[in-house]
Amino acid sequence: MGENSEALLSILRLQPVVPVLIVEDAATAVPLARALVAGGLKAIEITLRTPAALDAIRAVASEVEGAVAGAGTILSAAQFDEAVEAGARFIVSPGATGDLLDIADESDVPFLPGASTASEVMGLREEGYEVLKFFPAEQAGGAPFLKALSSPLAGTLFCPTGGISLANARDYLSLPNVVCVGGSWVAPKALVEAGDWGEITRLAAEAAALRG
Ligand code: 3PG
Repeated sequence: MGENSEALLSILRLQPVVPVLIVEDAATAVPLARALVAGGLKAIEITLRTPAALDAIRAVASEVEGAVAGAGTILSAAQFDEAVEAGARFIVSPGATGDLLDIADESDVPFLPGASTASEVMGLREEGYEVLKFFPAEQAGGAPFLKALSSPLAGTLFCPTGGISLANARDYLSLPNVVCVGGSWVAPKALVEAGDWGEITRLAAEAAALRG
């Protein structure tokens, strides 16, 4: 197994669920990440969808003991660089482009590119990727789709994300080619805005207890 895959797996295997965060206010990132870590979710994906995202990654990376801050929704090489500069320890994209694969090749920070068809998975296998994001999971065929890939595309592991919740996470986690799932359900917007960190820790603990 290649270095990128080994490094990714050591992060993704920390827990069954990677929280996917859209941080509107960087000031909430530290207490939010602390609440998730307290519940047992250490690897946290902060998406670059808001102006606060890079500050949020920086704050979580430097201030939250036990957290492994990652960056999501990386669409360009420039964003890849900015996220690494901010302290991201893993980089996630909904897809893959030549530019992203090139910059990932030059980086020590592991890259989790997205795929949602057999051909996309095959293309990334040719590039040496053994661990992929399956996105958007529910909309692209869900757990039955991944199950169908497990024999012909054996050897590729997935972190499905998109439309996953406590109700269907086990459908994915029980598959041999799923290492973890990603989802935003552990950090609902209303709880973050209310600063209800206790309830977020409870949701995180419930997610951390999920097993195949
Ligand atoms: C996303 O891109 O927002 C992630 O895949 C999370 O999706 P979710 O909000 O459906 O969990």
